Amino acid sequence: MNFYDSERIADLLTPMGYKKTDKPEESDLVILNTCHIREKASEKMYSDLGRLSKFKSNKVKSGSNLKIVVTGCVAQAEGKAIIRRNSDVDLVLGPQNYHKIPTLLTNSNKEKLHNYFPKESKFDFFPRTKTNELSAFVTIQEGCDKFCSFCVVPYTRGSEFSRTVNEIVFDIKHLSEQGVREVTLLGQNVSDYSGFYTVKGVVKKLNLSQLINEISEIKGIDRIRYITSHPADISMDLINEHKKNMKLMPYLHLPIQSGSDRILKKMNRGYTQKDYISIIDKIKDVRKDFAVTSDFIVGFPGETDNDFLDTLNLTEKVDFAASYSFKYSPRPGTPSAFLEDEVPEDVSHQRLQILQKKLDESQRKFNMSFIGQKLSVLFEKKGKKINQYVGRSQYLQPVHVNSDKSLIGKILDIKINKVESYSLHGETFE
Ligand code: 5AD
Ligand code: SF4
Repeated sequence: MNFYDSERIADLLTPMGYKKTDKPEESDLVILNTCHIREKASEKMYSDLGRLSKFKSNKVKSGSNLKIVVTGCVAQAEGKAIIRRNSDVDLVLGPQNYHKIPTLLTNSNKEKLHNYFPKESKFDFFPRTKTNELSAFVTIQEGCDKFCSFCVVPYTRGSEFSRTVNEIVFDIKHLSEQGVREVTLLGQNVSDYSGFYTVKGVVKKLNLSQLINEISEIKGIDRIRYITSHPADISMDLINEHKKNMKLMPYLHLPIQSGSDRILKKMNRGYTQKDYISIIDKIKDVRKDFAVTSDFIVGFPGETDNDFLDTLNLTEKVDFAASYSFKYSPRPGTPSAFLEDEVPEDVSHQRLQILQKKLDESQRKFNMSFIGQKLSVLFEKKGKKINQYVGRSQYLQPVHVNSDKSLIGKILDIKINKVESYSLHGETFE
């Protein structure tokens, strides 16, 4: 979502005459869009700020200026500390304040910190996106009301808010007119989407599967994805949409976090390992060809060897197509930051290594199952090698193909010949 937000901030700055550059030392304005999900991410911001301060003082000496703006969830959570620690920072804006950037940049004598939750929606102020991409992200929902005990998101992004169906459909029509063929619907908790839809003056509310259904009517949009979902909110409606709607890609990112029911309870996740497996079974009942990916946290306070074994056992029961796994990072202000019984660093480290090895094996097994088989690929760009094109399969795997004609923008059936670490290689059918 930060990637998407950065693009929207760039959209706001373009009419003001700003252009993107790779050279922060020469620029007039640098915006650090930050992540607070784990400690490492916020540490990075402070070291980047130190570097930017030096560029700023060089620019000031030569009679110009460099404005430094911090946005994102670190800005939201640690705004005051950022301003205290680095006086060169001009503005600090939390995620719901981005639309104010143009005014704040042109105003003098202003308050530096903007980390409250305004009444107006920033989406009403973003200009329509110009894009050359074939696959685009669209935020449909923001914030989270789940309050998992380890997570900062409900505090930094705020409570759940769904954009209206009308706005989303309008945005996607605009993207499709520019050549976009695939959209990924974004939100911290999209499975709980509930947005107003006004048709001929009648207002109703649509859930995620109904929204997807509306989007699949848009001409030119051939592929729809959504991310991220919560296991407690996966409805039969959504599962059935995967059965009926061939534009909806057979792919679900469904974070489990832990395979241990005891730890899941301490995490306030609201489901058990059995519940999770039953969702996957229901999906595979309606659509055999389906990729499931997940997120895992190891070393949550009080996680025993047995709890960790439950997580490893789960990886045997579900064939994950890919996964992300992290060491638990205590975040200030979250309930689990107060828990004692911390798992020693070396134990967490070892558990992460073991889990990642298992998840890598699972991913490789999934990828290898396509050798000699056909995958449907949307080609998005040139590869690193001459005459090579890269796209994504319906399961989101990167696929490389050699061709003397450009494949960009096409959706083609590809025969897979080789699997190399995380990517697949194949050829077109003649
Ligand atoms: N420590 C480690 N990982 C975390 N995540 C969220 N909060 C934390 C934390 N405090 C992970 C979860 C989530 C993903 C986006 O980041 O796995 O699904
Ligand atoms: Fe954080 Fe996701 Fe839990 Fe929401 S559902 S609190 S975003 S981990």
